[in-house]
Amino acid sequence: MLELKNISKQYRTGDEVQTTLDQVSLAFSNREFVSILGASGSGKTTLLNIIGGLDTYDGGDLLVNGTSTQSFKKQDWDAYRNGTIGFVFQSYNLISHLSILENVKMALTNAW
Ligand SMILES: Nc1ncnc2c1ncn2[C@@H]1O[C@H](COP(=O)(O)OP(=O)(O)OP(=O)(O)O)[C@@H](O)[C@H]1O
Ligand SMILES: [Mg+2]
Repeated sequence: MLELKNISKQYRTGDEVQTTLDQVSLAFSNREFVSILGASGSGKTTLLNIIGGLDTYDGGDLLVNGTSTQSFKKQDWDAYRNGTIGFVFQSYNLISHLSILENVKMALTNAW
């Protein structure tokens, strides 16, 4: 189960600080099908990137099967991305200088 507790995310551009996620709390149960809707710029991609371990949060906690990710090291995030979470992107995100076979093999490579 995934649980977000008061997740916050700010983007800093020069002196500008923009709060994109402001204390977001929600929980996903096993086998639950959830759609996240919102206006353009409301923070959907930011939220998904954080849930997917592709981006970091600034405040709050993301719990994976009851375990806090606050003290996750790089290797813990690698293992999470490799074994726990799956992502189907809207665009293919293929690595252009690799062949199709090499792209598929890349996804099968363990980080350790
Ligand atoms: N890397 C970044 N640096 C600075 N600001 C960012 C960055 N990524 C997103 N933002 C800002 O954070 C806000 C949320 O962006 P996000 O892409 O998460 O929204 P979204 O809901 O996915 O939008 P869309 O429906 O257009 O895909 C926007 O105001 C965006 O400009
Ligand atoms: Mg988006």
